Amino acid sequence: MSLQTRVTEEFERRYGSPPALVVRAPGRVNLIGEHTDYNDGFVLPMAIDRATWIALRPRADGRVVATSLDFEETRDFALDALQTGVAHWSEYLKGVAWALIQAGHALRGWEGTLAGDVPIGAGLSSSAALELATARAFAAISGLAWEPTVMARLSQRAENEWVGVNCGIMDQLISAAGKAGHALLMDCRSLETQAVPMPAGATVVVLDTATRRGLVDSAYNERRAQCEAAAKFFGMKALRDVSVEQFEAKSGQLDVITRRRARHVVTENARTLQAAAAMRQGDAVTLGQLMNASHVSLRDDFEVSSAELNLMVECALKQAGCLGARMTGAGFGGCAVALVREADAHAFSTQVAADYRAATGLKPDIYVCAAADGAGIVASSSLLSASLVIE
Ligand code: GLA
Repeated sequence: MSLQTRVTEEFERRYGSPPALVVRAPGRVNLIGEHTDYNDGFVLPMAIDRATWIALRPRADGRVVATSLDFEETRDFALDALQTGVAHWSEYLKGVAWALIQAGHALRGWEGTLAGDVPIGAGLSSSAALELATARAFAAISGLAWEPTVMARLSQRAENEWVGVNCGIMDQLISAAGKAGHALLMDCRSLETQAVPMPAGATVVVLDTATRRGLVDSAYNERRAQCEAAAKFFGMKALRDVSVEQFEAKSGQLDVITRRRARHVVTENARTLQAAAAMRQGDAVTLGQLMNASHVSLRDDFEVSSAELNLMVECALKQAGCLGARMTGAGFGGCAVALVREADAHAFSTQVAADYRAATGLKPDIYVCAAADGAGIVASSSLLSASLVIE
């Protein structure tokens, strides 16, 4: 059963009538451009065909009543009395409501059912998917214009200030603005995005190591601080402003750790632009090589990989048809991503799973992913437009 059917049928079972609206927002995998977003740099993620879905209808009393089918739990809160609570899926809903209200929007309440198939904590942005699905729902029932970039910013604010995770803009922006069949080259300073077609004949395969690391947040914040210190040393607003040449000319004066961190970001920005250019030419081979170089840089200079991620990448690179592989997302655990010739994708997935399992005893999850559209309304009834007119 598709998730759309699941949230819709469960809605009907609970409320006795069809939902006014079904929305979805995807997770993402980043092809290249890692730990560059908070340096005002470039990233090249694609939205994946795994998403969070919400079936809903408006409520007249300014409350949100949401049932997560995955957690088998219902949460209920009033939009005029939002309060932070302990870590919980509903905090993302409240955080997005809070950010929209802070931005001056008048929100209507709603009730509905939620479900998703973006694995949680795997580095595929299940939280951005939940945030953007929530934003899409509020926007539709409150009559707000849907501006993907604005909604991504507000969702990032929810994550930073309500949930308390100091992430950059990449995950929310790709979940809001993704385009089927394409990755998006994002300038994380201007927030301009350019759709770049996936090279023909190549497939993106996500390789989940089945490891999760607890220290991601503190290591992430430490990397951010190191990058800021490096930008300051170069006299720039952000490492985005430092070219490879400028880096080489001056970096000898930096301490060894800061130099490595900065080298990753400066070279990764250059690789990301080269990767987008290669994709535009349909050059999957060059894209794959750039992904390999990105992994080495994340492993050795930025030091955010892990033994399992490195092993997964090695298993991938040994297979026929593998054009490139790297860790993806924040790192320390979670997923790697590989670019694989389409004809080899099936054999590749089976063999990498077997090799990784034999080496670690862990059972990895392997998904062949298609590039999907960003957050959207997938079904709405005439009831919704009628109810919006009445108010
Ligand atoms: C996490 C963050 C993103 C980005 C990546 C690393 O996914 O949420 O903003 O910084 O790590 O590229």
